[in-house]
Amino acid sequence: MELQQLDRYAKALIKEAGRKIRHSLTYELVIESKADANDLVTNMDKEIEQFFIEHIRKDYVGHAILGEEGFGDDLLSLNGYVWMLDPIDGTMNFIHQQRNFAISLGIFKDGIGVFGYIYDVMNDELYSAQKGHGAYLNDEPIPVLESTTISKAIIGMNASWVVPNRHIENEGLIRLVKDVRGIRSYGSAALELAYVSTGRIDAYMSMRLSPWDVAGGVVIAEEVGAVATNLKGQPLKFLGQDTFIVARKSLHDSLLANYITLK
Ligand code: IPD
Ligand code: CA
Ligand code: CA
Ligand code: CA
Repeated sequence: MELQQLDRYAKALIKEAGRKIRHSLTYELVIESKADANDLVTNMDKEIEQFFIEHIRKDYVGHAILGEEGFGDDLLSLNGYVWMLDPIDGTMNFIHQQRNFAISLGIFKDGIGVFGYIYDVMNDELYSAQKGHGAYLNDEPIPVLESTTISKAIIGMNASWVVPNRHIENEGLIRLVKDVRGIRSYGSAALELAYVSTGRIDAYMSMRLSPWDVAGGVVIAEEVGAVATNLKGQPLKFLGQDTFIVARKSLHDSLLANYITLK
């Protein structure tokens, strides 16, 4: 298969999906809850996932699709080509703010990320990368990240980290909040990966993410020299949920060694 053609195809689908999402803001959304009252989904999350799936099934027969809203395939392995799609990452922002959400897409082959895309729909900013060929923000190359220190770092994590939880000891987190320059929480894992990749924040961590939240972003982040693993420091599997951290190498290692103590 011609990879550049696949890249152009994926980008065109993403842009078209973005236009549909922007247009949807001119009429009323249908909003429902999923696992709990704050786990929201709209008709657009579902329509956009179906839009991708219809096209991919027709034009790339044999490719599998893993999508958040469940219209894709139930996968037990990552053999062959797998499209990992979050049609709207940051649904709560989409509903409440009409901004700060993204389309997140990773195209993997035999478990390896080949293409990564994060589309900041309202800013018309497409972050993209092909493994081994660097990362781009629209048509501009994204520079490789330089190293930094904890005391100069801005860390992306969400408020659930301050609540005692079953994953991580609070003592290390309290020290971390004191030692870093700042903490940010944007409400879209994909955008936070895009921000780590462009140096706007220096790390992003989560206690639970799904493959579609991070698949595209990890391809982009790795192209600029960031390291992404679970919170045990193990490679990501992209099948099922896991903890997650992405940061520049020195920061990644220092965060795991000195601040993150798993229970
Ligand atoms: C969520 C966002 C959020 C993260 C959640 C994700 P969704 O994705 O990325 O920032 O904290 O864990 O589930 O549901 O808006 O696609
Ligand atoms: Ca969701
Ligand atoms: Ca998501
Ligand atoms: Ca989503």
